[in-house]
Amino acid sequence: MTNTEVNNQGAQEAPARKKRIFSAIQPSGQMTLGNYLGAIRNWVEMQDEFDCVYATANLHAITVRQDPKKLKENTLNLFALLIASGVDPEKSIFFHQSQVAAHAELAWVLGTFTQFGELSRMTQFKDKSARHADNINAGLFTYPSLMAADILLYQADLVPVGEDQKQHLELTRDIAERFNGIYGKTFVVPEPYIKKNAARVRNLLDPSKKMSKSDQNTKSYILMVDEPATIMKKFRSAVTDSEACVRYAEGKDGINNLMEIYSACTGKSYEQIEDEFRGKGYGDFKNAVGEAVVAVLEPIQIRYKELISDKKYLDELARNGAASAERLAKRTIEKVYKKVGLVR
Ligand code: TYM
Repeated sequence: MTNTEVNNQGAQEAPARKKRIFSAIQPSGQMTLGNYLGAIRNWVEMQDEFDCVYATANLHAITVRQDPKKLKENTLNLFALLIASGVDPEKSIFFHQSQVAAHAELAWVLGTFTQFGELSRMTQFKDKSARHADNINAGLFTYPSLMAADILLYQADLVPVGEDQKQHLELTRDIAERFNGIYGKTFVVPEPYIKKNAARVRNLLDPSKKMSKSDQNTKSYILMVDEPATIMKKFRSAVTDSEACVRYAEGKDGINNLMEIYSACTGKSYEQIEDEFRGKGYGDFKNAVGEAVVAVLEPIQIRYKELISDKKYLDELARNGAASAERLAKRTIEKVYKKVGLVR
C-alpha cells in the first residue's frame, strides 16, 4: 500500500477537519466602515463554519513610523472593537501578532525565498513608499514575507481579505509552492477568500478611491466609533450626481457606493432599494443610508465602550489566544527549521 492510500483511508475514518482560516488587521488608527463591511463582518460570520485564527497585525504596523504609546493604545482598541463586533475568543483564536515570536522567525526564513523583483512589484509597497518617502525602510519592502509567514505558520486553507490584499496573497502562494518544491510538502498553499457580496466601500467624497482613514478629509470616511450625529452628517455631505434618481448604474459612482453600503447594512437588493426610493430625492436616501449604518454600528459602539474600560480582561483574552496560537505555530516553525537545517 502506498503512503497516499494509507492517508486516504485515514482521512475517511477521521472526522472531517474544518478548514483553517487566518486573517489579520493592522492597528493603524481607527477602523472605518470599509474595514467593517469588507473584512470584520466576514470574520464574525466565518467563526461557526471554520477553524479561525485572527490577529492584530502590530508587527506590520511598524513599517510606518508609529508613536509607541499610540500604537499600544490602537492595538488594544482594535482588539476590543473586534470583540465588540462579534469575534468570539471562545470560538476563535485571537491574539496580537507580536505575542507569537514565530511570526518574525518564519518571516526571516521566508524572506530568503522571496525575490527582490517580486517585492518590487507590490502595489502597496509602491503606494506606501510614495506616501512615506522619508522612510522607505526594509520592513516596508519585505512586508509581504511577514504576511506570508502569518498565513503559512497556521497552515491556513483560506484567507479572507479585501481585493486590495489579493496581490500579497498571490505572493504567499508562490512562496509556499517554492518552499514545498525544494523541501517537500511543508505548507498548505492558501486560497484567497474574497466574499462575492463583500462590500467594497468607497471614499464618500471621491468614490474613485477606496474608503481609507489615511485620507486627509475626515468627511470622506466613516469611523466605526463615529457618533451617530457625525455619521448622519457625513452621509449628508457624500457626493452624488445630478440625475436625482436612486439606481445602480455606470457613471453613478457616488450613488452606487451608497447603495452598496445600504444593501450591506440592510440585506436589501439593489432592485428593492430602487423601488423603495423611486420618486424620492437623494436627501431621503442619504438619511436612510446614515440611519442603516447607525443601526449596525451603535450596538457595537456600546459593547466597545464597556470592553475598553476593562484592560485587564482584554489582556487576559489576548494572552490566552496567543498561547493557543503558539502551540499551532510551534509545529510549523520546528518543521521549517529542521528542513532548512537550522539548529533549534
Ligand atoms: P489592513 O489592515 O489594511 O485592512 C484590513 C482588512 O480590511 C480590508 N479593507 C477593506 N475592505 C473593503 N473596503 C475598504 N474600503 C477596505 N479597506 C480595508 C482589507 O482588504 C483587509 O482585509 N496586510 C494586511 C493585514 C495582514 C493580513 C495578514 C491579512 C497582515 N497579515 C495575513 C491577511 C492575512 C493589511 O494591511 O490589511
